[in-house]
Amino acid sequence: MRNDDAPLIRLEDYRPSDWLIDTVDLDIDLHPQKTRVRALLAMRPNPEGQPGAPLKLDGDELTLKSLALDGKPLDPSAYEVTPQALTIPAPPPHDFTLTIETEIDPSANTKLMGLYRSSKVYCTQCEADGFRRITYFLDRPDVMSVYTVRLEAAKAEAPVLLSNGNLVAAAELPDGDRHFAVWHDPHPKPAYLFALVGGALDHVRQDYATADGHKVELAVYVEPGKADRAGWALDSLVRCMRWDEQVFGRNYDLDVFNVVAVSDFNMGAMENKGLNIFNDKYVLADPQTATDGDYASIEAIIAHEYFHNWTGNRVTCRDWFQLCLKEGLTVFRDQEFSSDERSRPVKRIADVRTLRSTQFSEDAGPLAHPVRPRAYKEINNFYTPTVYEKGAEVIRMLKVLIGDEAFKRGMDLYFERCDGTAATIEQFLACFAESSGKDLSDFTRWYEQAGTPTVTASGHYDAAARRYTLDLKQSTPPTPGQFEKSPVVLPIKLGLVGRQGDLPLNSSSNAYAGDGLVVLDDEALSITFEDVAEAPIPSLMRGFSAPARLELDLSDADLLRLFSADSDSFNRWQALQSVATRALVAAGRPGADRAALAATAAELGRELDGFLKADAVADPAFAAQVLRLPAPADIAREIGRDVDPDAIFSAHRGLSGAIGKSLFGSLP
Ligand code: SER
Ligand code: ZN
Repeated sequence: MRNDDAPLIRLEDYRPSDWLIDTVDLDIDLHPQKTRVRALLAMRPNPEGQPGAPLKLDGDELTLKSLALDGKPLDPSAYEVTPQALTIPAPPPHDFTLTIETEIDPSANTKLMGLYRSSKVYCTQCEADGFRRITYFLDRPDVMSVYTVRLEAAKAEAPVLLSNGNLVAAAELPDGDRHFAVWHDPHPKPAYLFALVGGALDHVRQDYATADGHKVELAVYVEPGKADRAGWALDSLVRCMRWDEQVFGRNYDLDVFNVVAVSDFNMGAMENKGLNIFNDKYVLADPQTATDGDYASIEAIIAHEYFHNWTGNRVTCRDWFQLCLKEGLTVFRDQEFSSDERSRPVKRIADVRTLRSTQFSEDAGPLAHPVRPRAYKEINNFYTPTVYEKGAEVIRMLKVLIGDEAFKRGMDLYFERCDGTAATIEQFLACFAESSGKDLSDFTRWYEQAGTPTVTASGHYDAAARRYTLDLKQSTPPTPGQFEKSPVVLPIKLGLVGRQGDLPLNSSSNAYAGDGLVVLDDEALSITFEDVAEAPIPSLMRGFSAPARLELDLSDADLLRLFSADSDSFNRWQALQSVATRALVAAGRPGADRAALAATAAELGRELDGFLKADAVADPAFAAQVLRLPAPADIAREIGRDVDPDAIFSAHRGLSGAIGKSLFGSLP
């Protein structure tokens, strides 16, 4: 998107805005083709900016109708205007107001950025830079303002008028055909969190009281006739609000929380303050047709957008390079919520599957970029699996490295210190360095370096000395523009698995942090465990403790032992996947010997039969994950080059068919 001669924007060039906007009063007269927007902006020189700097407001395809400074029409010689910018070269060197009138055509806005009208509903999307399609503005996240919004529309066309914050007034106009609503949001916010909705919408609603005693009206608005499918979203909203109070100590902060689901929405969903807007496929569930997966994903997306209220809105991003500050953290929070609501191992397995299939492949290709990119032409191209999913993995690693208690204290400190501000990754990490007393400077490399690290492990057991030695190495492949890589800080959760399960871990090595955690922060390290009573099988990267590939040469027999005896559910699943992957990779090559595949099928069939009889009932969703073979695309990724899709497909069919036959009878 956006052409190549767009300027390159660099993180290192950031400087604060010369001007700030304290309050925004919007008066919007909704009309399908001619919507009038009057914006009253209270401008103030930024003490951190350059004194006497010109004022340049962003625009995008805008038509200016009138402009006044401190209420007086501004002489055309005092400003320059194009559809893309409004510049006042010599503004007054003190506070002043600007009144800007623009006219926009929501029906012609097929970009679905800014204000648009689709399926008879007026709707906005302003992240990342859509607000400049509504009025001229300092459209950057570090300019935060208090908004009051008056919406006016024909009653028949838009009986429902919503914006951010609390409703402060609503009435019919004397002509009887038109009406208005005034919304006020007391929390300063960047323009990308502005939203409005107007249309004939149905809704379901519920009262809620926050843990700190605030009454909130919750509602889910949907297109007419769809309200009977909105119940699950509302139910999910109540549960995630409660969870955020209990787990992160975060209460909701307005009298109203509205969710709107529309059928035409590009971004999936959007966390506008107090007015989340969704593509309705992420909200509506029909009990007749929705799958378990649909319910889980609605719950997760409702939670994700709600959680942004604190991680994104109350604390927002200084600039778009910090996108992972809100997205990685909020994905982490929604993953934790789903884990608590459902099965933690199942959620982890599903997330790792997604990470490997989307993020690992992005990281291995021409679009590889760090979790915090250093330069962009078009920020909309950076809403990527790396920023979101790898961004969440980085937070998860941080938690493992500093421990649950220090992580919690760090989060509290972050909310306390950065509330109401536009923050950076450095400010975020400083809270955890402080709460844990640890130096996290090497950890920042996760934000700067692209590419998926590979951890290579090998172990050796000395029976006479009852000692087990584990050698670990790491390397990160070159990625576009980043050829030299430095070691990253890799938390490796591990266990040593004996015949009866986990063996006690005793090690005086420096890299052993205790509690089954080894920190690999150098290119290589060797660690010894003492008093190891029998030859163990290493169970490494438990719970997928780092977004890395693991190379560890274990036989099928060892892997099957891990499957039956490992205390870590993720690695049990991983062990079986590894056996199946190895067999499928071998059989997926042209002209491969199919006898080996048949032998693996028999072996896996036996293991799974035992597993289903012993474990499946305790967590059927986990059993379902275990029974799912790696997908053909996973096998293709493993093979890497000269992939033969037919051979992979036929191997996959062969293995799943054989296992299916052998489990006939033991499957419920
Ligand atoms: N900010 C949105 C989200 O990730 C993207 O539109 O929730
Ligand atoms: Zn998000």
